[in-house]
Amino acid sequence: MEQNEETTRLWGGRFSSGPSPEMTALSLSVHFDWRLAKYDLQGSRAHARVLHAAQLLDDDELDKMLAALDELEKDVENGSFVGTAEDEDVHTALERGLIERLGTLGGKLRAGRSRNDQVATDLRLYLRDNVRRIVADLIDLQQALLGKAEEYRDVVAPGMTHLQHAQPILFSHQLLAHVHAFARDVDRLRDWDKRAAVSPLGAGALAGSSLALDPVAVAKDLGFERPADNSIDAVSDRDYVAEFLFATALIGVHLSRIGEEVVLWTTTEFGWVTLHDSWATGSSIMPQKKNPDIGELARGKSGRFIGNLMALLTILKALPLAYDRDLQEDKECTFDSVEQLQLLVPAVTGMIATMTVNSDAVSRGAGSGHALATDVAEWLVRQGVPFREAHEISGAAVRECDERGCELYDLTAQDLAAVDPRLTAEVLDVLTVDGALAARSTHGGTAPTAVIKQIDDIKASIAAQRGWLEPAE
Ligand code: ARG
Repeated sequence: MEQNEETTRLWGGRFSSGPSPEMTALSLSVHFDWRLAKYDLQGSRAHARVLHAAQLLDDDELDKMLAALDELEKDVENGSFVGTAEDEDVHTALERGLIERLGTLGGKLRAGRSRNDQVATDLRLYLRDNVRRIVADLIDLQQALLGKAEEYRDVVAPGMTHLQHAQPILFSHQLLAHVHAFARDVDRLRDWDKRAAVSPLGAGALAGSSLALDPVAVAKDLGFERPADNSIDAVSDRDYVAEFLFATALIGVHLSRIGEEVVLWTTTEFGWVTLHDSWATGSSIMPQKKNPDIGELARGKSGRFIGNLMALLTILKALPLAYDRDLQEDKECTFDSVEQLQLLVPAVTGMIATMTVNSDAVSRGAGSGHALATDVAEWLVRQGVPFREAHEISGAAVRECDERGCELYDLTAQDLAAVDPRLTAEVLDVLTVDGALAARSTHGGTAPTAVIKQIDDIKASIAAQRGWLEPAE
C-alpha cells in the first residue's frame, strides 16, 4: 500500500512496510475513542509533571509542554483539532497534535508511558466523571417520583401481586418503592467509585518503568486514591468496566420496570395516569393515539444495557494477562451504556414529573377483588384463631362472595356469621379500605403514618446523595 511518510504511527521503527488498508481499517478506534481525548490530555499533564520531577524535562520544557497541552485541549474542544483515520487511536492523534505544536519536544512525553496504561487510565477517568452525571440524573428521577408521591400521597390503590389485586395500598407507597431501587443504584455507583479510584499510570506496557516516575504523585494529580499495586493488573484489569456495566444494566432493569408500569397505567383499561403531551407521542395513522413511548423505550433499552455487560464479560473471559488488543473492544459497549443512560433517565424523569394521576380511577378498585381477605384473616388471628384456620375461614367468605357476585364488604353481619360463627359483627370494622391501610403501620408498611415517615427518610437520603456529588470544602 501507499505509505504516508508523514504518518503519526507510534510504532514504525522495526517495520519495513506500512500496514495494509485492511489492517488499518480493523485497527482504527479514533472514531469512537475520541471521547477519551479530554481525559488523555489530563493524564498527559500529570505525566509531564512527573517527568519534570524526575528531571527528564527541565523547567522550560515543562512550561512549554503544559502550554501546548492547554492549547491542544482548546482546539479539541472547539473542534479545530480532530483525530483522523491516519491516527489509529486517540493517543496517537493527540501525540501528533502535541508534536505539531511543539516540534521534537512533543516526542518527550511518551517516555515511561505506554498506550496500555494510558488507555486504562483514560477509561477510568471517563467513567468516574460520567458516573457523577449519572448520579445527578438519578437524583432528579428520585426527586420527581418523590414529588408525585407527595402530590398524591393519600390516594388509595389496589396493590398487586401477580398483577392481580392483592391488598390495598397507598399509590404513593408504590411510587416510593421505585425511589428505593434508584437510591440503591446510586449507592452502588458510589461504592463502585471507591474501587475505581486506582491509577494505572506508571505501569507502562506491563512491567513498570526504569525511569524515576512517581505513580503516587500521578494518582493524586488525577484525583485517584492510590496507584495500582501491580503493573500487570493495572493494564489488564477491566473489572471497573464490568462492574460499571452491571450497575448500568441494573439501572436499565429498574427503568424498564417503572416503564412497564407507566405503560400499563396509561392503558384505557387502567386509566390511572395521563401523560403530558410533551412526554408522549402520536400515531401517524390513528388520530386518537397517545403512546407512552418513553416507558416503552425504557423497557427496550434495558436489553441493550444487559447486552453491553454480556459483551464485555465475553471479551474478558480467558484473556491472558497483561494487555491484549481484544481490550480495545471494551469501549463501544461502555460508551453506549453511558450515552444511552444519559438520554433515557432525563426522559423518564420528565415523563414522571409531568404525568397526571387520575385519583378516582386509581382508587376505584382498591378494595375490590377481595383485597380485604387478608384483613379478615388477621382480624381472626387477633381474636386468637390460628392463622391456618383463619385463612380457611376468610377463604370461605371469599367463595361465598364469588357465588353471590359481590365483594367482602358487601356481606352483612348475618352473612359473615353464617360462613363461620367466629366472624362476629366486629369484623366489619376492618372491612374498609381505610381501616386496612391504617392497620399496616409497621416500619415500611403502607399506612399513611408509615408513608409519612418514609418520605422524611427519602428526603434525607436524597440530601446525602447530593452531598456526595458536591462535597463540602
Ligand atoms: N486503542 C488501544 C485500546 O483501546 C490502545 C492501546 C493500544 N495498545 C497496544 N499495545 N496496541 O486498547
